[in-house]
Amino acid sequence: MYPVDNQQEAVDFKALQEQYITAVDRKVLVLGSGGREHALAWKIAQSDRVSRVYIAPGNAGTASVGTNIAINIADFQEVKDVVLQNRIGLVVVGPEQPLVDGIVDFFKNDKDLKDVKIIGPDKKGAQLEGSKAFAKQFMEKYGIPTAKCFTVTADNLNEGLQYLETLEAPYVLKADGLAAGKGVLILNELDNAKAELKEMLSGKFGSASAKVVIEQFLKGIEVSMFVLTDGKNHVILPEAKDYKRIGDGDTGLNTGGMGAVSPVPFVTPEFVEKVESRIIKPTIEGLKKENIDYKGFIFLGLMNCDGDPYVIEYNVRMGDPETEGVMTRIDSDFAELLEKCALGKLNEAHYKVSPETSVTVMLVSGGYPESYKKGMKITGLENVCPCCIVAHAGTKLVDNDIVTSGGRVIAVTAHGKNIEEARETAYHNAKQIVFEGKNYRHDIGLDLMNYHA
Ligand code: AMP
Ligand code: GLY
Repeated sequence: MYPVDNQQEAVDFKALQEQYITAVDRKVLVLGSGGREHALAWKIAQSDRVSRVYIAPGNAGTASVGTNIAINIADFQEVKDVVLQNRIGLVVVGPEQPLVDGIVDFFKNDKDLKDVKIIGPDKKGAQLEGSKAFAKQFMEKYGIPTAKCFTVTADNLNEGLQYLETLEAPYVLKADGLAAGKGVLILNELDNAKAELKEMLSGKFGSASAKVVIEQFLKGIEVSMFVLTDGKNHVILPEAKDYKRIGDGDTGLNTGGMGAVSPVPFVTPEFVEKVESRIIKPTIEGLKKENIDYKGFIFLGLMNCDGDPYVIEYNVRMGDPETEGVMTRIDSDFAELLEKCALGKLNEAHYKVSPETSVTVMLVSGGYPESYKKGMKITGLENVCPCCIVAHAGTKLVDNDIVTSGGRVIAVTAHGKNIEEARETAYHNAKQIVFEGKNYRHDIGLDLMNYHA
């Protein structure tokens, strides 16, 4: 088994035993079914440390980098069965909902699962995303720069209406709870804002808007920054700019994200230093003080207001489609990073980022983000250059055909030495993929091409 050399006195048997224990554990389970999870699984599968990657439930694309397991991840007992049956050593939680529902606490409190490593915060930590009011209180308490705000329920509606009068347009109203990315309204007219506030409190977004945060509007450019923390140490992952509106030139309805660019020209070393000292470090200190066990991703939705970063939102997961472009820029073993994170030893991990630029173009179903057809056959995938990373979001395998099964269908990511080069490759290859109703934005990264900080 191990090369035991009798001449060599200093064999560290304890270290060898630890290595062995880890070796049987080197199966990773990624929970989720989108482009983010495809990109995570793709990156993790490249690691020599990992013997096998499972994705639950996954999609037609994740099946090419690992083994899909068709379970309902909202049912933690089903997740437990998969983990035990397949002797999974590390679980990476892709979406926020299982975290907000307490999957990490479920693992910690289960005698069979408590030693399985899991990436994600516990239920209390997940409140950073699960409750806007909690996140705002947290930021206020720990001096983290964010927009001024006031929290309203049916009990103090009048105070909320008065608070709106103290603000200047536009008015920002946020449902406290998770509302599938739709719970934020930005309104130009005071009367309209007042009416919407009342509607939200009367259940416009169900129980998610029983509490509403009214916020001061921040003017600036948005950027997504990602941090991996083990609760003490942290690593800043590559940042990205997301394009949220459906139409070119940032027009039309909001979507889950139509494309991404990484790195972002205005995220200079000085800006990163401000984010680290004013936001990341106080956030991790705050989590410690609140006794929150946080081993996972912190996604900072930031507004760059004249060079100063403000937190618009925390998410407790990676972004989508940002992850698709961020994973391709990580030049070191991502599984090692996750493993060290879960062990609280992130400071020992190797971490390297590619200087290249990635551009991600999301192909979506016609009609998205409103109603759209599913089941459209996808062709041309074989014509995409292997230099691109094709992450499946809403796809499904039906009788050996890959068909659309969601609004966001496939994200094509390409690299280049600058945005122009990466855009050219990404768009050329995005055009090779064909399905009825295919739509995409044509201007991903255009605004950043001539950006000078
Ligand atoms: P959130 O779900 O909190 O990220 O909000 C959705 C989007 O609304 C953000 O990506 C911003 O574009 C916008 N937004 C949210 N809060 C503010 C704010 N205080 N000022 C300006 N824009 C905002
Ligand atoms: N692309 C934004 C998000 O994942 O929330």
